[in-house]
Amino acid sequence: MRVTMIGAGYDGLVSGACFADFGHDVTCIDKDAGRIAALRRGEIPIFEPGLVDLVATNIQQGRLEFSADASGIGDADAVLIAVGTPSRRGDGHADLSYIYGAVREIAPLLSPTAIVVTKSTVPVGTGDEIERILREERPDAEMQVVSNPEFLREGAAIYDFKHPDRIVVGSDDARARAVLAEVYRPLYLNAAPILYVNRRTAEVIKYAANAFLATKITFINEIADLCERVGADVQDVARGMGFDNRIGAKFLHAGPGFGGSCLPKDTTALLKTAHDHGAQLRIVETVAAVNERRKRAMARKVVAALDGSIRGKTVAVLGLSFKPNTDDMRDSPSIPLITALHDLGATVRGYDPAAMEQAKPYLPDVIYCGSAYEAAEGADAVVIATEWEQFRALDLDRLRCLMVQPVIVDLRNIYRADEMKRANFRYLTVGRPAAERSLETVAPRRRKAGGAKSMTAELAEAL
Ligand code: UDX
Ligand code: UDX
Repeated sequence: MRVTMIGAGYDGLVSGACFADFGHDVTCIDKDAGRIAALRRGEIPIFEPGLVDLVATNIQQGRLEFSADASGIGDADAVLIAVGTPSRRGDGHADLSYIYGAVREIAPLLSPTAIVVTKSTVPVGTGDEIERILREERPDAEMQVVSNPEFLREGAAIYDFKHPDRIVVGSDDARARAVLAEVYRPLYLNAAPILYVNRRTAEVIKYAANAFLATKITFINEIADLCERVGADVQDVARGMGFDNRIGAKFLHAGPGFGGSCLPKDTTALLKTAHDHGAQLRIVETVAAVNERRKRAMARKVVAALDGSIRGKTVAVLGLSFKPNTDDMRDSPSIPLITALHDLGATVRGYDPAAMEQAKPYLPDVIYCGSAYEAAEGADAVVIATEWEQFRALDLDRLRCLMVQPVIVDLRNIYRADEMKRANFRYLTVGRPAAERSLETVAPRRRKAGGAKSMTAELAEAL
């Protein structure tokens, strides 16, 4: 089949390369001529494991090409739109200007029976508006507009594309459904279920899924806060919950709050859509508000670890991207965390295996370092903000020798408390009890004042 992607960004590039790998003839069109020229030279503008090789192989085998010129799209069996839908400045609505702009640009070039597929995350009703624009621009034509949301996770996008939990096709039209079935046939044979629904339902599925994932993360984050107060271990709580099939073990890792290019903007956009339609989504409202506060509040853990003040101290932050295996800084929890550390008077040294160039515009005052160990030089505390694999087995003796004080704040819970205790670190986590030795150093006043205080007394103190 001939497949055209409009937009060679994250989504367009990964999806385009994977479709080509299945044997389809794919053209990725992007209006950014510089990006197209770079892609033709084999330079991939994003960091995604496996993507460089996948693109190179498929270009070489003649199934994948890039163009800044959309004039050839009349031949495509399916035209998939994957331009960005960032939050609109000011009100948080999804900014649909790129989508509608792209549709107006391609409308005169499409075949009269084109199947136009929206892969971008768009609020419910956007498909109707695209259809309206196409009818206005091409009154003669019989085009179909389909919603086919993507569910790719950054860092694992190729795997996710090739092993989807489901494929959602939003269209009531038999011809459009048949074309999409053919486009996804290689996956269908692998028993990936295709769910055929109407277009508005498909649009809602994408937002509801992301809002639910955001809710699951926020739920476990609040349980982690409770665990910290009552001496429970959130990782064991998550395991204990996750074995229940109705709950499931995934997305129950407590941390500094969710970030990235999707969950924050999609929860906000869903709230705006609900508001516009007079529906109230109180759970999602709370999730968005709790998560927003949480990211900056992580700085308080660093303050607590350094006995109440970080003014004039140096903090090393390991991991800047919103999660491992990506260089994406969009809505990364490291941004409000580091901003708060700066506001409180600390110097911040930072290291990330992939995201430092992307981080610089967001965090210009960070001292960027060449490795985790270089970042730790002269630091009063090391904060693990993103769980990159290379941070999981740091040489703790080497780290301690480089630091002014042996303090680690692990916002991703990747170390064991007893291991840190043996290495003589003061070790703070998210939602796990500190080791006995750490308790003495971390909260000396509380320990001296009352020994084993009752839970109620601790609660009163906290409030
Ligand atoms: C995608 C989805 O589209 C978004 O809805 C989802 O929530 C996340 O994944 P993403 O791929 O991250 O967005 O967007 P981005 O990396 O910004 O790429 C968009 C690309 O489209 C850019 O290369 C841009 O130049 C291109 N573009 C934009 C066009 O080619 N034409 C346009 O009219 C607008
Ligand atoms: C998400 C959805 O998973 C994907 O289906 C959708 O298409 C796009 O949005 P992505 O943004 O790439 O994907 O990352 P994801 O793995 O979902 O993580 C999002 C954020 O939540 C990250 O900041 C991550 O650190 C955080 N997270 C995730 C947790 O804090 N705990 C968890 O258990 C899982």
